[in-house]
Amino acid sequence: MGVSFIYPFNRQTKELEYYQLTTYDNLPKRGVKRIDLQYKNNRNQQSTERIFLVNQDKAVFALTGVCTHLGCLVNFNYHKNQFICPCHGGTYDISGKVISGPPNKPLKRLPIELRDGNVYVGLIV
Ligand code: FES
Repeated sequence: MGVSFIYPFNRQTKELEYYQLTTYDNLPKRGVKRIDLQYKNNRNQQSTERIFLVNQDKAVFALTGVCTHLGCLVNFNYHKNQFICPCHGGTYDISGKVISGPPNKPLKRLPIELRDGNVYVGLIV
């Protein structure tokens, strides 16, 4: 597919754990793909994380689905090409930047990496 990955920060953070998110073949060819990742955290508890993989101009990055206002889970509206928060109507563009509403910070980017044909996402657990 010929995409590059965008990393939000250096990978040296100790609390980061990488979890398999999908395969390279299942990356979005363009636009947005939502994945509700189920995983066991480092206390062996089952957790779920809403993650959006975004392919924008052949660069792939991952956004958390947690609204930066008060933490509701956002959805992606394919008609409007925006992330929309159901709680107070905050909207974000496809790169996660705030368009309108109460949020004053963009959706957080998550580190992703490719290993053996699989895509892993780094979560702070
Ligand atoms: S929690 Fe998302 S707009 Fe308030």
